[in-house]
Amino acid sequence: MAQDYKPVKTSKVGGSPFTGVLGWIDDRLPLPRILLKEYVVFQVPRNLNYLYSFGGILMLSLITMIITGVILGMHYKADVNLAFDSVERIMRDVNHGWLIRYIHMNMASFFFIAVYIHMFRGLYYGSYKHPRELMWIFGIIIFLMMMATAFLGYVLPWGQMSFWGATVITNLFSAIPFFGDAIVTFLWGDFSVGDAFLNRAFVLHWLIAFGIVGVVIFHVIALHITGSNNPSGVEPIDTRDTISFAPYMTQKDLVAAGAFLLVFCIMLFYLPNFLGHPDNYIRANPLQTPAHIVPEWYFLPFYAILRAIPDKLFGVLAMGGAIVSFAALPWLDRSYVRSCRYRPIWKWCVWIFVADFLVLMYCGAMPAEEPYVTISRIGTAYWFGFLFVLAPLVGKFETHKPLPQSIHQSMEKST
Ligand code: HEM
Repeated sequence: MAQDYKPVKTSKVGGSPFTGVLGWIDDRLPLPRILLKEYVVFQVPRNLNYLYSFGGILMLSLITMIITGVILGMHYKADVNLAFDSVERIMRDVNHGWLIRYIHMNMASFFFIAVYIHMFRGLYYGSYKHPRELMWIFGIIIFLMMMATAFLGYVLPWGQMSFWGATVITNLFSAIPFFGDAIVTFLWGDFSVGDAFLNRAFVLHWLIAFGIVGVVIFHVIALHITGSNNPSGVEPIDTRDTISFAPYMTQKDLVAAGAFLLVFCIMLFYLPNFLGHPDNYIRANPLQTPAHIVPEWYFLPFYAILRAIPDKLFGVLAMGGAIVSFAALPWLDRSYVRSCRYRPIWKWCVWIFVADFLVLMYCGAMPAEEPYVTISRIGTAYWFGFLFVLAPLVGKFETHKPLPQSIHQSMEKST
């Protein structure tokens, strides 16, 4: 009977393109094979420009934030009596603590610079359109998580802006009808911003930061299913339209990352506090309100929208809606043409939107008085008009420029 025994082959071991130890691992856990397929031979449109390096730059920023954050977390004390001093100790006594903290602080700003450029690129080349809608929505979720992480992180040094910023922002929830005050007390875990809030800010700052990594993984998987869009907005049709990711994009990304890091280092070593607020070097004092409570620069456009609306509840809704409604852009924009290169009217709408964003940023930094309030109102009206009026109408009625037949044809024309 034993001679009749034939094992059923269930194991998939074998077939690795690698040899040696790598082949041995790859046969059992095909990670090297996946990396080869997705990051070496992976085909990308041949006309990707430097704006397409910002996804990689964002990954670099995220990794830097997590590594420096973990080190800071080893020395930080989440206690209202110790937090401010523990940060000062990091700056003065911990070996290279000043460097780790300044990298973390400044990279937070550079992370937002990179994400705004990355989002602008998506908007300009119509990357949010079919079939990349889900990638865009993951992007909006990442952006919201980045905002939450940055807000909570800013609370941790327990300076004047940490305390008063947290008080102003958490109080916004009191605008919710009926349950508002109960929600605010729940968020604080107390009857004011204090030790309980500082502790939860610390825990959530970490948790959401790691959550971003998870959503980025989905964002990138979705990207590798649809492939990248490109500046012409037309899909590749044959091998003349594509190149392999390595070495072409990897080298380009390295040059872009080098330039990004160079500018970052100039800020880091010569102007490390330029993007921060001096009041945050004053210990939190619940009995003394600062003259102007201003959020970090990357929140300013949304702060301007909040203050533009006289009603608190509608202000909060407008501020949140300004971001969340971008998730609907793939369905609001009715044009089948993706890239602004071939959309003469929409291109202007997008550039005016960029100007609007910068004007709102300026108004957000100014006191809530005239003429800034009126300008913020006009800016807010354009923001929502851009999404809900211009995107559908321009998409429907605009006459676009003739589209190229292929990516390589679009490149021949531009040279
Ligand atoms: C931590 C933040 C983020 C990381 C690490 C990240 C990473 C990436 C990477 C690696 C790519 C491919 C390379 C590239 O096209 O640049 C990409 C593409 C893309 N991302 Fe992100 N992303 C982030 C945030 C966002 C946000 C906030 C949005 C928009 C709301 C967004 C929308 C997109 C879109 C639409 C594409 C495809 C672009 C195209 O093919 O033209 N991403 N992202």
